[in-house]
Parts: sequence; C-alpha cells; structure tokens
Amino acid sequence: MYRTHTCGELRLADVTKEITVSGWVQKSRDLGGMTFIDLRDRYGIIQLAFNMDSNSVLCENARKLGREFVVQAKGIVIERSSKNKNIPTGDIEIVVQELHILNAAKTPPFTIEDETDGGDELRMQYRYLDLRRNPVQQKLFLRNKVALETRKYLDSQNFMDVETPVLIKSTPEGARDFVVPSRMNQGQFYALPQSPQTFKQLLMVSGIDRYYQIVKCFRDEDLRADRQPEFTQIDCEMSFVNQEDILQTFEGLIKHVFKAVLNVDFEGDFPRMTYAEAMEKYGSDKPDIRFGMEFNDFTTLSQGKGFVVFDNASSVLAINVENAAEFTRKQLDELTDWVKRPQIGASGLVYLRYNADGSLKSSVDKFYDTTELEKWSIQANMKPGDLLLLLCGDLDKTRKQLNELRLHLGNQLGLRKSNEFSPLWVLDFPLLEWDENSNRWHAMHHPFTSPKHEDFEMLATDPGKVRANAYDLAMNGVELGGGSIRIHNKDLQAKMFELLGFTPEQAQSQFGFLMNAFEYGAPPHGGLAFGLDRLVATMGGSESIRDYIAFPKNNSGRDTMIDAPSTIDDSQMTELGIKLN
Ligand code: AMO
Repeated sequence: MYRTHTCGELRLADVTKEITVSGWVQKSRDLGGMTFIDLRDRYGIIQLAFNMDSNSVLCENARKLGREFVVQAKGIVIERSSKNKNIPTGDIEIVVQELHILNAAKTPPFTIEDETDGGDELRMQYRYLDLRRNPVQQKLFLRNKVALETRKYLDSQNFMDVETPVLIKSTPEGARDFVVPSRMNQGQFYALPQSPQTFKQLLMVSGIDRYYQIVKCFRDEDLRADRQPEFTQIDCEMSFVNQEDILQTFEGLIKHVFKAVLNVDFEGDFPRMTYAEAMEKYGSDKPDIRFGMEFNDFTTLSQGKGFVVFDNASSVLAINVENAAEFTRKQLDELTDWVKRPQIGASGLVYLRYNADGSLKSSVDKFYDTTELEKWSIQANMKPGDLLLLLCGDLDKTRKQLNELRLHLGNQLGLRKSNEFSPLWVLDFPLLEWDENSNRWHAMHHPFTSPKHEDFEMLATDPGKVRANAYDLAMNGVELGGGSIRIHNKDLQAKMFELLGFTPEQAQSQFGFLMNAFEYGAPPHGGLAFGLDRLVATMGGSESIRDYIAFPKNNSGRDTMIDAPSTIDDSQMTELGIKLN
C-alpha cells in the first residue's frame, strides 16, 4: 500500500497512529540534530520529522532528498512542540521510521510554491509542474465543481447529454474554421466545430427535446484574455419553448451553480436590458453593471458654442465619475494619453471638475461660460467632488471608446470587485450587422436565429432594423453565454440565407442537411451556450480564462509544452495529398 492517509488529512486526533504517506518533497530544513521535510500532495502538506540521535542513517537519507523527489514515509503521528497555525495539519508531525524514494527529481525550473519565481512562458512550457502549485490546482477544482453542478442541475431538468461529431463540414459563417485534411478523401477537408449548433438543432428534430453537452469548440480567431482557440461550452437546446422558458431555465442553472459552488445567492430575477439600451447606456452589449457611470448624451447641449471639435462631431458622450474631481492634472493627462492610444483611438478627452467648494473647472472653459458648465453639471446629475469626462466623434466609435474608458476607470477606482457578481440578460439583439469588408449583411448571432415576429416586414425594407429572438447573459462585463430561438421552417431559413448573400445552390450545398430536416417535422426550438471557461474564470474573480484551463495555448495559439502546431513528415503530407508552396 503506497499510503494509508493523504498529506492533508491527519489531525491531533490521529496522534499515536502508525501511518504511511506518499508525496512530493516541498522543502527540507536541516537543523543539525533534526531534519524536517514538508511533504505535499493534492490534499495538503504534512511535516516529516527525522531525529539524528534516534536514527542517524534515516536522518542522513532525509538530508539527501531534493525538492520534488517523490517519497513514501512510514511513521507515527505525534503532537508538534511548535505548532504551525497556517496549515490544517500544523498541530502534528510524523516521526518517520521508514523512508523510500519512489522517484528522484531534477531541480524544477521554478519554485513549486503558491508564489512562484517562474515567468509565464516558463510555466507554460512546464505546465505539469505549474499544475502542482496549490493556487493553480484550486482553479481546476473550481472548474470541476462547476461542471459537476451543471450536470446535476441539467440532469434534474431532464436534459440529456448527447455527443456530437468533431470532424464536421466547414461553413463560411462565423469565425475561421480549423480544418483537418482527409486521407481517404484526398483534396477534401473536415472542419472542427465552432459549436455543435446544427447538430443540436437536428437532435431537436429527432425528438430529444432537451439536450446538453459540455463540449470542446474550436475557433481560429485572434486571442484575448477571454478567448482561446479551443474552449469549452455548456451547450444546450430545448424544444417547444419560447424565449421566457429558456431564460428561466438557464437563470436557474446559474443560480444553482453559484449557490452550490460559491454559496452565493442572487436576490430576485436577473435584471434585463435590451441591446439598444445597453449600447446607449454603456456602449457595450455586455455591460459591467457592478458600478454606475452610465453614458450621457451631450451632443445637443455642447454644440453651437464655438468649440469646433464638438461642433464637428456627430456625437458627444459623457460619463460622470463620482468623487474623482480630485484627480490631479497629471492623472488627467495620463487618462488623455490612455484614450489616445491606438488601441482606443480617441482624438482627445475633455473634462469638467465640480470642485468640492462648488466651483466648476473645465478643460474647455474658453468656450463654455459658467452658466453653460452649470447646465452640463445638471444634465449629468453631478455633485460637488465629481468629474465629468467627455469624448466625441462618430456614435459607434465614441460608444466603444467611452466603454473602454469607463471600464478602465472602474478598475482604477476599485469599482469592479471580484467577489461581486452582477448578471444581466441582454435581449433583442439585432438580427443582422453590416460588414464593410464583404459589403453584405452578416448574422449577428448565427444564421439559424429567428427574427422577431413583429419585425418580419422590415426584413424586405430595412433589414438592419430587424431584431432577433436572441439573448446573452453578461456578468461583470463578460459575455458568459448567448443563444436564440431558432428558425424551424425551411422557407424562412432559405430566406435568411438569401439575405446573407447565399445563392440557393450555396445554401443547399452548405446547409441543405438542416433545411431538409426542417421538412420532416421540426419542433419549435431554441437554446443557448455558456462559455465554461469564462463562467469559471468569472466565478474565480479573474478576467483571464487561461489559468482555468489545464493545458491552454499561449497568445500565438501555441502549446509550448508539446510544441504544437508543428510540421509533419513528408510521408504524412504525401499520404494526405498535400504540398506546401
Ligand atoms: P457563441 O458564439 O455566442 O454562441 O458562443 C457561446 C459562448 O461561448 C463562449 N466563447 C468563447 N470562450 C472562450 N474562447 C472563445 N474563443 C470563445 N468563443 C465563444 C462565450 C460565448 O458566450 N451556438 C451558439 C450558441 C447558441 O446559439 O445556442 C454559440 O456558439 O462565453
């Protein structure tokens, strides 16, 4: 038997027991007469004690153990004379009687401690060692719990876990596909699924009624903190439901998971907001509503007073930053530089300080007298001590820039607390968005999303105004999930493809299987998918999903540990019928 106990479970009550533990050497302290080893496994750390007087050979052996050696120790549990309050096993130690080295270890390239000295790249290259560290393991435990509670809830609601294929057909919609060459069908390629979207809809046609899958999805897109090329969805679909049924079911899922995993209760229903309102108030379709700073439209109020920058802009938008009038000139200059960076792209930043003594001071008071500035402060509901910040330009761009500035200030002022969770349903997304590059309409969610019935007529006259039966769940400024009520009628689906610029032949060749299925009795259906990585990272209080994935890719989409992607043998290339230029 390798062990009778784990390194984390022994307590005072176990004193006098003869036990065996196995694990990794965390650190060793040689105090001359005594040697102490901290032995670590997934469950904790226990102190092994070796006494030179009572067993000098064993003590000599213990002194030779290096960091991360894998050892087995047999001994007696005793009460410690100097207790360690920082660890759960700190009241006891093991007087070792037998010690076996199960495997020696090279010195690790970084310390396996909560606070390590290893840089990002090094830790990624030796991810299996990084995963030995407690804070990193905790993130995987959290992920495991979230997945388990998700399954419990969905099972209790009659959802059935069905696997769908990973080698599928490449389609032009959405992000770029990862493709896989077929040896048996030379010159042809599979694609890895960006999501199981069409399959889950086919399962509804099959009568599965409630489907879910915790499933890998693949998208060849530029990476960010909350984006990985392969990520995991909690993918769900339901039949005979309307939007309200879906929102209720999945609000239930999120509430269950937060309660079961973090003991967090949400009071009442999740707030809801239309896409139009979210864009107007926050310039984002996934607003972080943990804090205020809602947008205020200053276009009318600020124009016509001789300040050409505002006069020439199609929009002037402002946010009131409460209690920030004390920002120094230097801080305001830094903020101005920050919004002018190419990543944000604003032309400048205008401010109005409402000083604590009631006076008003603005960067543009050459153009606006006190009476005008007072109007500004009233419009923005400012109090003494507040700071108004204004950006101007094209409406969409200005909204995006002000959203970035708002989030930046939220971080700077500590308003985005990681242990506070603010869910928000964003509803009524537009069905289509115009793509400047391809000069055609794109489906904002995906082409299987149904338009709102009351907007049907605008499909022919003003497609950009048509709203979709589509919804997202945002939390803390992150899009946790999204979905829609689907089209389940062949003719409407064909019309949608036509709007998206497909010829009937293209639509048939790409999605004929789905439209054909719709002719054999497709039930009304809809669904949604959560990003599991994002859900877990948000619950863990982080914006970066990488730490919550056991073996993530780096920012260039590489796995530096296994060195992928990599070239393949000429013989493999020949077999696949592929030649590189
Ligand atoms: P969507 O494309 O909105 O919808 O994806 C659903 C959720 O998946 C997560 N997500 C990602 N997470 C990490 N890295 C990525 N690259 C990434 N891309 C998306 C997000 C997102 O909200 N089939 C539809 C769902 C449906 O309509 O039912 C779909 O895939 O959290």
